[in-house]
Amino acid sequence: MQNRSILITGCSSGIGYYCAKELQKNGYRVFATARKLEDVKKLQSEGLEALKLDLNDSQSIKEAVKEVIKRCDGKLYALFNNGAYGQPGAVEDLSRKVLTEQFESNVFGTQELTNLVIPFMRKNTEGRIIQNSSVLGFVSMRYRGAYNASKYALEGLSDTMRLELMDENIFVSLIEPGPIRSDFRKNALAMFIKNIDRANSTFSKEYEKKLKSLESKADVPFTLGEDAVFKVLLHALESKKPKARYRVTFPTKLFTFLKRVLSTSILDTILRKVD
Ligand SMILES: NC(=O)c1ccc[n+]([C@@H]2O[C@H](COP(=O)([O-])OP(=O)(O)OC[C@H]3O[C@@H](n4cnc5c(N)ncnc54)[C@H](OP(=O)(O)O)[C@@H]3O)[C@@H](O)[C@H]2O)c1
Repeated sequence: MQNRSILITGCSSGIGYYCAKELQKNGYRVFATARKLEDVKKLQSEGLEALKLDLNDSQSIKEAVKEVIKRCDGKLYALFNNGAYGQPGAVEDLSRKVLTEQFESNVFGTQELTNLVIPFMRKNTEGRIIQNSSVLGFVSMRYRGAYNASKYALEGLSDTMRLELMDENIFVSLIEPGPIRSDFRKNALAMFIKNIDRANSTFSKEYEKKLKSLESKADVPFTLGEDAVFKVLLHALESKKPKARYRVTFPTKLFTFLKRVLSTSILDTILRKVD
């Protein structure tokens, strides 16, 4: 795998940041991207080959891909679609604009980027597309509808791409983490405050609880470090037989099982209890 090139989105913090550094240590040529210039500079100062890429901006995606392809002479081995955020809020409190923005980052920008790199992978007769999905990409929880829907969409696109590309030695893998220590909750809290009219919502009481939980610095149960995602990312990159799905953390494994064996109504009873 020495010198294989990989492009990663969302490297300013959390999983993307950790995986970019670890992959570089493992001999990969890592193109670590972030949407804010100050983060790009910070990554560069830490010795990473960093570029600006904002998933909400087609021009930014195109420019980043053009530069990466130039630098690696078209030999891009892998794409780790990691950049995303969670927009909390009950479904009926999501404006069209807020829902669109959630999809712009987590789905449309991500797919636009993927579609730009596939032709190079095809030409190289190999490639790995690894999608950072979530346990919330296959079970739904209250006040997470926008994020749920975006990750379900990512799963749908990934399952389809896997079928379309499997004859071309381009593998599509989904990573489905449960709680991982990162800035995810901090960033979700900011989007909650910014975009949801909590005081005038039918759910205002529940929102106070949600706010407290997002503000809490304590780990939610079964939280793992970013290394748990890195471990399976490495398998998806290096195995001759990468998996379609990598389930990370106990809650993901548990809900995979429960979704298989329980009726929707019984599963709903359990999911309703999750705050
Ligand atoms: N942490 C968890 O519990 C958990 C669980 C399941 C799945 N995941 C998934 O893991 C991935 C990484 O999240 P994380 O946990 O590492 O959280 P994080 O620390 O908040 O990192 C998310 C990254 O995505 C970036 N991002 C957001 N919107 C973007 C956009 N429009 N363009 C480019 N980058 C954008 C963020 O950049 P800024 O700093 O500029 O906002 C940040 O670098 C996400 O796909 C998330 O859905 C996380």
